[in-house]
Amino acid sequence: SVKKRVVSGVQPTGSVHLGNYLGAIKNWVALQDTYETLFIIVDHHAITLPYDTRQLGKATTDTAALYLACGIDVSKASVFVQSHVPAHVELMWLLCSSTPIGWLQKMIQFKEKSRKEGVENASVGLFTYPDLMTADILLYQSDFVPVGEDQKQHIELAREIAQRVNHLYGGKKWKKLGGRGGSLFKIPEPLIPQAGARVMSLTDGLSKMSKSAPSDQSRINLLDSKDLIVDKIKRCKTDSFAGLEFDNAERPECNNLLSIYQIVSGKKKEEVMEECKDMSWGTFKPLLADALIEHLSPIQVREVKILNQSNTFLRVCPISSMFCSFHK
Ligand code: ADP
Ligand code: NA
Repeated sequence: SVKKRVVSGVQPTGSVHLGNYLGAIKNWVALQDTYETLFIIVDHHAITLPYDTRQLGKATTDTAALYLACGIDVSKASVFVQSHVPAHVELMWLLCSSTPIGWLQKMIQFKEKSRKEGVENASVGLFTYPDLMTADILLYQSDFVPVGEDQKQHIELAREIAQRVNHLYGGKKWKKLGGRGGSLFKIPEPLIPQAGARVMSLTDGLSKMSKSAPSDQSRINLLDSKDLIVDKIKRCKTDSFAGLEFDNAERPECNNLLSIYQIVSGKKKEEVMEECKDMSWGTFKPLLADALIEHLSPIQVREVKILNQSNTFLRVCPISSMFCSFHK
């Protein structure tokens, strides 16, 4: 087919949160009709940090069910588990062997995620994760990768690795030797949304909303109950300026909460500016909580239905079942 190809994924770690949804999954839904789409549950990525083997299988199933509940349509998109396709890890090894260590040492996410344990104690898997992500993308000769802003550096790296491998092992000299010649890999491009690319933590406006943040209070999970959403919004960090506004560098929390409200309510930025400019936090917070509940409730209802319907749905998760049997 002549359709351009789109590939993306979410790790089955903890629960899927509003950042994953607004930065990635929600945008995937819009791409299904125009592109050939592959949405992967990237379970190999989920084991790079300490994890619970018993939870991984369940999280894999739950993440897949959430993809569908959010509107991914398996008659249009391919949805599968990374570890079910061994070629991801095989290609990763080839790419690792062509990746200078210095390139990986520049990755901000590695620096952030290894800070807690220290670089010496972080897993080799965490360090080489960008090569696996590059394999996820290059394996399918992808044109576009829809991700949140935190993945921008990894996509840039994927482009550099593809160019390097094309240079080293593609081209005329290899054709003469009987090789394929030309470009081995297509150079992928990131698709980063205008709004929602970087949803921030609810407890401090300066770090991104993340599965790995210790406090559950810092994020809205897609499956949080109504009461929990109301409570988290009620307690989220705000400021003491008068009125509400976007894009004031001194008010990151305000910008974050207005942006979330804008997307989940489906309103235009100007509309929200007008609606909220004179509002107090006491008026805005219930409005935001209601908009979130209204947007997330149908997803939650569909998720339960999907999990109940299909009792054979993605029961087999090779890496988790393999590791679980070691524990017996
Ligand atoms: P996490 O960073 O929470 O562990 P993943 O690494 O599985 O989540 O990321 C899955 C997708 O969600 C990626 O495209 C990533 O860019 C996006 N994403 C993660 N956190 C956020 C956020 N706070 N805001 C916007 N997008 C995000
Ligand atoms: Na991430």
